[in-house]
Amino acid sequence: MSKIVLLEKIHQNAVAYLQEHGFSDILEVARALHGKELLDALEGADAVGIRSNTHLTAEVLQALPRLKIICCFCIGTNQVDLVAAAQHGIPVFNAPFSNTRSVAELVIAEAILLLRRVPEKNAKAHRGVWDKNAQGAFEVRNKTLGIIGYGNIGGQVGTMAESVGMQVRYYDPESKLPLGNARPLPLQQVLEQADIVTLHVPGGTATHNLINAERLAMMKPSAVLINASRGGVVDIEALDRALSERRLAGAALDVFPKEPRSEKEEFVSPLRGQDNVILTPHIGGSTEEAQANIGHEVAEKLVRFLTAGTTRSAVNFPEIAHQAKEVKSRILNIHKNEPGVIARMNAEYAALGLNIVAQHLQTKGTIGYAITDVDEVVPPELMAKLCSAPAVIRCQLI
Ligand code: NAI
Repeated sequence: MSKIVLLEKIHQNAVAYLQEHGFSDILEVARALHGKELLDALEGADAVGIRSNTHLTAEVLQALPRLKIICCFCIGTNQVDLVAAAQHGIPVFNAPFSNTRSVAELVIAEAILLLRRVPEKNAKAHRGVWDKNAQGAFEVRNKTLGIIGYGNIGGQVGTMAESVGMQVRYYDPESKLPLGNARPLPLQQVLEQADIVTLHVPGGTATHNLINAERLAMMKPSAVLINASRGGVVDIEALDRALSERRLAGAALDVFPKEPRSEKEEFVSPLRGQDNVILTPHIGGSTEEAQANIGHEVAEKLVRFLTAGTTRSAVNFPEIAHQAKEVKSRILNIHKNEPGVIARMNAEYAALGLNIVAQHLQTKGTIGYAITDVDEVVPPELMAKLCSAPAVIRCQLI
């Protein structure tokens, strides 16, 4: 029976899913662990589930020879040394899409609030000012929503926006199938035409300061900007100037170039104090539903790997799609991606008269992964031989 350790208060959906699929040896710890405490908790574990605060470094992985799979019950995976994990034959999984709906809903809500100037009126009311003026307050119906980055989140935002009567225009350097009334346009035209511009691009150097002073100047003075993607995508000083000089009507920002690492650190931003700006602490994807979805999505990947060797959507590992195990024995062979490994392995099966029913091989970088099905009981001597063969990192019988 596989031992599963779940750290950092992973959603009970995950535990329920694992139990439903026959995994009962589950150790739950409500917080992140480090150093000796972490190694003690993970001793003898086949699988570990973490969120963002447990760091699985090369050193930690080296000390856990039994560990077979790492599950990040979150989006990011930079708390895990992905290369070291692959070198130890450990696939790493996460939940990249479980919170897309949560982000999309927040964006639609912010679009409505900003066009109605609610943040500003709310701020004034808190200061005792009764501003009932309708000037500059608009419905979103018949307005144009410009989406920059028409991927998973951008596409959902577009569909929801149409349902409240908006016209959707988007820019994406990749060719994307437009949903509903959405139409692709060059970036400049999206910026010029949109009443609301919302950003859903990946972070990183390619999109750093994508929205700079020049591009902000292309937007209508009555337009608003929403960024729930990554902080580096907007030149925050340029945005601050555009808002202060009334060249833009408002903004909602969920992500920032510099975000506090914990609640104890102060949030510093030039945009603090601007009335028609919504500032939220990177909570676009933070909902109970998203956590529940993540629990289910990642637990399913865990079960599929432990019961069938499936690595589809692993972030660091050759991907083999799910095929339910319908034979007596399935052998997982994780090896260095070099010539001769499969030939040697198959020669061992042939020598014992074992007939291969199905075999799947996939490689990624320096790692190769083969799943072999045989409809016979595999003797332990064969497993010992396979596991000690040159270039084999790990092999396992299911
Ligand atoms: P995705 O990968 O599905 O979509 C990104 C899209 O951006 C792709 O269609 C891609 O072709 C496009 N793109 C790339 N470079 C571009 C450019 N220069 N201009 C325009 N489009 C470009 O990603 P997904 O899942 O929709 O996420 C979007 C962003 O939202 C990511 O940055 C992600 O990290 C962030 N995010 C933020 C959350 C929050 O809590 N605020 C939660 C979840 C995701």
